Amino acid sequence: MKALLEAIEAGCEDWDLAQAIDPARLPEHVAIIMDGNGRWARRRRLPRIAGHQAGIAAVRSTVETCARLGLKVLTLYAFSVENWKRPRVEVETLWRLLRYYLRQELPELQKNDIRLQAIGRLDALAPQVRRELDAAVEATSANRGLVLNLAINYGGRAEIVDAMNAVLDMARLDGRLQSLKFDEDLISTSLYTASCPDPDLLIRTSGEMRISNFLLWQIAYAELYVTETLWPDFSRTDLLRAVLEYQKRDRRYGGLSGSPDAAPINGSAQSGDPSFVEALRPS
Ligand code: IPE
Ligand code: IPE
Ligand code: MG
Repeated sequence: MKALLEAIEAGCEDWDLAQAIDPARLPEHVAIIMDGNGRWARRRRLPRIAGHQAGIAAVRSTVETCARLGLKVLTLYAFSVENWKRPRVEVETLWRLLRYYLRQELPELQKNDIRLQAIGRLDALAPQVRRELDAAVEATSANRGLVLNLAINYGGRAEIVDAMNAVLDMARLDGRLQSLKFDEDLISTSLYTASCPDPDLLIRTSGEMRISNFLLWQIAYAELYVTETLWPDFSRTDLLRAVLEYQKRDRRYGGLSGSPDAAPINGSAQSGDPSFVEALRPS
């Protein structure tokens, strides 16, 4: 947060927005559906590819702002399992741009102590893309600041299917198949995002009111923020506005405002949690 204020010129709009943010109530995990590149290009009578190119600057500024704010995790939806349906030239451009981004941004990621991770069906990536992605993940693996999760060839349903199959394979190997039972914890810890807290804030650009198969399990209690801004135009100001709006929300998790029941689902009291059971025990 302090790092963010240092980066902003005093007195400008972003300065006022950043001053209004409560550093004690920042979202831990922000997830973004980066949408609207095609429409951005069409409005300028440019090919769709130009929109994807322009979107890279928005990725850069968003990553930097999240790191300076001191967030723990930023997950960006870069390519969905459904995006293969697009024309081959567009799909190839998206992979080319991913490689360009990785090469271009690696020094910045290192400088800002950002750890890169990728979630999705990565085995389906072209070997060259996969190699460069793995190398960037490895190169930043000791960083301790923001975790930047790129969702690549990602689908929420595919992720749940993969998690279930991984658990079944493991149980078969260990001879525990007969007694295997699923619970929420087992599923959460078998997803690609096992090591991350669930998103607190889900942002979608370009006004579309849908989830498009993104983090279906993890967004159970995320606050949703949809902006008409198209992804290439999404600026630091837009991100700060989204965080401020998030801080105005009353997160109840099915409980009541301000009561202990309103604690985060991953945080404390919920049924089945030993501390909850303990609290019910007669003294
Ligand atoms: C998002 O922009 C980028 C990806 C899905 C990879 P779009 O390409 O979906 O842009 P619109 O929705 O057509 O404007
Ligand atoms: C979601 O955007 C996927 C990404 C941002 C990578 P899409 O443009 O693919 O989603 P739909 O088709 O509008 O639902
Ligand atoms: Mg779209």
